[in-house]
Amino acid sequence: YPPKDWRKERIAPEERVWLVLATLFAIVFLSAFMGLWHLTGRQTTHGEAYRVDPGAYREKVMAFAERYQVGELNGIPIVAPPPGDVYLMAQAFSWYPVLKLKKGETYRLHVASVDFPHGFSLYPHEWSLQLHPGYEWVYTFTPTQAGEYALVCNDYCGLGHHTMVGRILVEE
Ligand code: CUA
Repeated sequence: YPPKDWRKERIAPEERVWLVLATLFAIVFLSAFMGLWHLTGRQTTHGEAYRVDPGAYREKVMAFAERYQVGELNGIPIVAPPPGDVYLMAQAFSWYPVLKLKKGETYRLHVASVDFPHGFSLYPHEWSLQLHPGYEWVYTFTPTQAGEYALVCNDYCGLGHHTMVGRILVEE
C-alpha cells in the first residue's frame, strides 16, 4: 500500500503537551530573560568595536598622551578638550593614561588591551566587558558626576591582577 503521509498523522495528545510546553518555555525564556534583561539589566553599554593591531593601538595612545599631557607621563592626568576622542590602554598591570574629563561633556572613549585579555569595568557606571587584544572598543561616554572614577580589571590576568586599578578624574 502507499506509504503513509507523516504530515497527515495525528500527534499523540501527550506529545502535543510537550510541544506546547517547549514552545512556551522558549518564548518565555527568549522574551523575559533576554529581551527584558537586555532592556532593563543596565549591563554593559553597546559600543562600537574595531579590529586593531595592539602595537598600533599603543602608538595611538602614546601620541594622544603626548599631545595632551601636562608634565611627566606617568600618573599625570591627561586633559583632553571635549568633545573628543580619549584613549585608554590596558596592559599588565595598569591602565594608561589617567584621564581628566569634564562632567556633562560627551567623549568618545576608546579602550583596548595591548597584551593579555583584561577586564574593563568603570565605576560608578557599571560597565563591564572583556578586552581582547586585537580589538578596540569605542564608547560614547558622558561622565555624570564629578570626582574619581575607578577603572578595575575584573578578569584574572596574572600575578599583578589585583593591582590593576586605574582612575578617571572628572571635574565640574
Ligand atoms: Cu588585567 Cu586582571
